[in-house]
Amino acid sequence: MTFSSESFFSGFKILSSKAKLRLFILIPVVLMGVGLETLSIGMVIPALGVLMSEDYLYEIPQVVQILDNFGNPNHQQLILLGLFALAGSFALKNLYLFFQIQCQGTFVYGAQREITLNLFRKYLSSPYLFHLNTSSAKLLRNLTTEVMSYCNFFLMPVINLATEILVVMAILLLVLMIEPRGTILLVMMLVLLVYLFVRVTKRTVASWGSSRLAAEEGKMKHLQEGFKGIKEILLSHKRDFFLSRFQEHNKLSGLMNKKEYIFQYVPKLGVEVIAVCSLVAMCVFMIRQGVEHSQVAHMLGLMATAGFRLIPSFSRILNNLQAINYGWASVTALQSEQEQEVVAPKFSSQLDSPTSTTSLEFKNALTFSEVSFAYDNHDAPIFTNLNFSIKAGDCVGIKGESGSGKSSLVNLVLGLTQPTEGEIRIDDHKIDRSNLPSWQRMIGYVPQEVYLLEDTLRRNIAFGLSDSEIDDDRIRTVINMAQLDNLIASTSKGFDLMVGENGARLSGGQKQRIGIARALYHDPRVLVLDEATSGLDAQTERQLLASLSPLKGNKTILIVAHRETALDFCPLVYTIERGQLLASSS
Ligand SMILES: Nc1ncnc2c1ncn2[C@@H]1O[C@H](COP(=O)(O)OP(=O)(O)OP(=O)(O)O)[C@@H](O)[C@H]1O
Ligand SMILES: [Mg+2]
Repeated sequence: MTFSSESFFSGFKILSSKAKLRLFILIPVVLMGVGLETLSIGMVIPALGVLMSEDYLYEIPQVVQILDNFGNPNHQQLILLGLFALAGSFALKNLYLFFQIQCQGTFVYGAQREITLNLFRKYLSSPYLFHLNTSSAKLLRNLTTEVMSYCNFFLMPVINLATEILVVMAILLLVLMIEPRGTILLVMMLVLLVYLFVRVTKRTVASWGSSRLAAEEGKMKHLQEGFKGIKEILLSHKRDFFLSRFQEHNKLSGLMNKKEYIFQYVPKLGVEVIAVCSLVAMCVFMIRQGVEHSQVAHMLGLMATAGFRLIPSFSRILNNLQAINYGWASVTALQSEQEQEVVAPKFSSQLDSPTSTTSLEFKNALTFSEVSFAYDNHDAPIFTNLNFSIKAGDCVGIKGESGSGKSSLVNLVLGLTQPTEGEIRIDDHKIDRSNLPSWQRMIGYVPQEVYLLEDTLRRNIAFGLSDSEIDDDRIRTVINMAQLDNLIASTSKGFDLMVGENGARLSGGQKQRIGIARALYHDPRVLVLDEATSGLDAQTERQLLASLSPLKGNKTILIVAHRETALDFCPLVYTIERGQLLASSS
């Protein structure tokens, strides 16, 4: 993966239009810096001239006029003036550069913030199926290391590259006017050097970048696996196995970063040697040609002054080109993420405007008609031509063997996945992108595996509400309905009880009951429980279902369960068998 001059500009597409505008504003700031940089180098020449010759300034007609106005200062005064002007110009330039660095930093790291936020927003708006099929390690990697790499190995180097090229051109122009022969020779040498360096290293450095990208994903994956599977790892004493799998990727990414780091110094070391050698060669050449020594010394002084700024500039140009090459893998990775369509393919063609939302009423029935579903086009379908309906206000049980498709059916009802064929209707409206949010807002859902925030009980139940929006009376009511009073009674913290990472400090059944309390908190019209009571003992389950009893008739309830006790609660029970739904009364 290497960049060409055409693809180079596509790297900016990742920026938002606001950030692009800010980049444009940065251009005059950089140009001003280049101007000051050139001026300060330019000041060395008259300062040196005045030091070396008494008549230096008096030989320039325009300056004579000015000096006349100042009462023709003597040589001593002129030297002081020249030196102060030199010091002043450098001080001014560096003061300005500090300002410029601030602007650059604000731009680049502002872009980093913005890209990360937009990408996270995009991932969070992506369909459930996208998340089922994408490794979260890759998403985490993109959001962390790759956005950082885009900024440090693309944005910053591009700005620096542009600055350095401009500085080099301006300084060369300056010395070209004074010492054309030597300058042309120097330019040719340096351009050839840049060309050869980029040519030789481009592929290698870019491949380091790609390897690092892949290794970074592996690292993230193994880190996650290590922490999520800690119980099994501790128990099976397989720590070294997991460490060694992590280490494979860790080593590779470290190695690539090391190579890039070492290689950063190659241009600096090389350019210096080559520049000094060519300067020496030029002096030897001039001396042999019989040029006067004082003239050679003057030329050497000028070239050394120019070189004092040019040599670091050239090595920085090479450095930045190399950095862009190294970071190119991140640029393409982020680009492909941005180009990805957020909308589920099924829906994309159905609606013209993605922002329009219409509200739904659920008065009669939820109807599946001729619904077929497969997770992937290559997979055998989980359901084929499914037809059934659930009346509003009914309480329906779903059973079936493990793997028969109960959770998959629930996902379709929730609108998290869409039928491959057929349609799902609420009353007479087909669920589509515009009315899906309205349908989903009616639902309280308890998944098979409840996910808990590393936060308080209160915030876990009122999921996604800020403290000021949370109604403690409602929390109390749903805690009571979900049979969580015992948990509250056992702690002095009350609703502020911290549940640990994903409920690590709670029992499986307690987590499930928090899930139920969460589903009930917003008083949903439709309640969907996917194995939500599987972790409870028979008595707690009975009590919980009893507390849900008053909801029957008011709410539409869908209960997925293995156990008969939970299904007894439902007057109507369906069984999933071979992709079909068979009615069977409990
Ligand atoms: N993301 C996925 N991609 C591909 N296949 C999947 C995916 N999720 C589930 N499946 C497959 O779909 C089938 C039905 O899975 P589902 O989770 O709906 O079963 P279930 O009836 O809920 O089982 P359980 O009682 O164990 O929860 C399974 O064979 C499973 O392998
Ligand atoms: Mg399931």
